[in-house]
Amino acid sequence: MKTPTTQAPHTLRAGMIGLGMIFDETYRPLFERVHAEGLYDHRFGVVEVPLAAVASRTGSRAEKYRQAAGDRIARFQSFTGPQPIDELLKAGVDFVCVATPDDRHFEGARAALAAGVHVLIEKPSVLSLDQLDELLALSRQKQVLAKVVYHKLLDPDHKKLRTFVADGVLRHVNNGYCSLLEPRSISGSQFAEWITGRNPGTYVAVHYIKLIDYTFGGRLKTITATGQRGIVGPADGPTWDSCQLRLVYEYDDDTGEKRTSNIEHRTSNVEVFDVGSSMFDVRRSKSCREAAFDIHTSWVTPDNFPGYVEQEVQFRFDNGVWNGHSRKRGVECTVEGKTPTEIKTTMNNHYNGVFLEPWGARSQRGYGIETLERFVREVAFVEHGGPKAERPRRLENMCGLAYNDLAADRQTVAAVQALETILDRQYRGHPDCVVRVNDERGGLVLYDPAGGAPEVLHAPQV
Ligand SMILES: NC(=O)c1ccc[n+]([C@@H]2O[C@H](COP(=O)([O-])OP(=O)(O)OC[C@H]3O[C@@H](n4cnc5c(N)ncnc54)[C@H](O)[C@@H]3O)[C@@H](O)[C@H]2O)c1
Repeated sequence: MKTPTTQAPHTLRAGMIGLGMIFDETYRPLFERVHAEGLYDHRFGVVEVPLAAVASRTGSRAEKYRQAAGDRIARFQSFTGPQPIDELLKAGVDFVCVATPDDRHFEGARAALAAGVHVLIEKPSVLSLDQLDELLALSRQKQVLAKVVYHKLLDPDHKKLRTFVADGVLRHVNNGYCSLLEPRSISGSQFAEWITGRNPGTYVAVHYIKLIDYTFGGRLKTITATGQRGIVGPADGPTWDSCQLRLVYEYDDDTGEKRTSNIEHRTSNVEVFDVGSSMFDVRRSKSCREAAFDIHTSWVTPDNFPGYVEQEVQFRFDNGVWNGHSRKRGVECTVEGKTPTEIKTTMNNHYNGVFLEPWGARSQRGYGIETLERFVREVAFVEHGGPKAERPRRLENMCGLAYNDLAADRQTVAAVQALETILDRQYRGHPDCVVRVNDERGGLVLYDPAGGAPEVLHAPQV
């Protein structure tokens, strides 16, 4: 239920492309909260954020949601059919969130940016560097934000890890592993419409690619990968049950001091658009140390396994070890007939939980929602955070936030493009390919151990 405001509000009309699982988990609670409370910051005052329009394939979830939500949400238009995104944009929105399957992010984001609308894209932002370059160019031309959701960067455990690294408490990461296991029901039913030809690496390992890339900085050097098939689809088909990705990074041969400055560079407000070339040049001239990271993912784990979604990371440094485990950090709860499917046995109450607050209200909150709200605040700051003449400066500041800006997503997208290509080559009978980043042949170059000429996947520097 909407509560009246005492101030004259600004309005930011929201558009949503894709109303699937992640909409229901994170966007829906955000839009319901801002519908009731608005957003406030002393720089931009009160901002109303109505969900104005949605676009999806069939519209059935939109209608179900409209019925179920009642007055918890603004009256929104729902578009389906052949051109739902164009119609959504014609309805007039100030920002658009793209939560379609990962191989359909690009079209929606490009259309919205071309219409001069701020954009937030679910992870992974896009599947190739060419697409990333196009979206970035459009966002700069149209002077709007283009951002991506990596909510694991807001997980308090990962923020603590990054704080220790930035402060030189943990020094020089040498290697590590990350693992994320999803239950079979996710791939078998929920994603059945789009899963053919897809893999759990792009879908979930990308969270860890970003965590490693953002937390430790460094220069991505080599990508290898393999995977298994036969459960979601045929054993010789293009759809993957599980995959294992290895990333090798290069770091300046130094200790805490230089690493700190690297991280600060990545979070500085104005220099972020230069990350690609200037960091590359600087690092070439120094001696380097390497680090290797293995990321294992699956979306065919039996539905009754205790983790339900199980996540684990370990990073080893010159002077320490960081261990994080979703089943060890918090609650383990059993409810007869309900866990682990309806209620998770090892629930992550930090990501997204439905709570009865001590003051009696019901709420849904967590870092999965916080990251979306921050984007809306960034849009509000750009549009309403001061005089119009200073909008370019505000925009530049918000573009400089490397945790979510597309300009800082280059190495993550490079890793995703390499993973996609290596798995595709394996499907076509060429296993064990290796992709190197910024070598003498180009920005992203694929080598096949069976021979043949190296293939340049992306010519410019990553
Ligand atoms: N942040 C996270 O941790 C997290 C978690 C889950 C999913 N995701 C991401 O969110 C995205 C969607 O995942 P999901 O789990 O919600 O998928 P889903 O299959 O549950 O929902 C997909 C939605 O997109 C719509 N859609 C499909 N093609 C479309 C098109 N061409 N135009 C308009 N709408 C279209 C469908 O109608 C559906 O509403 C993916 O990119 C995924 O990686 C992120």
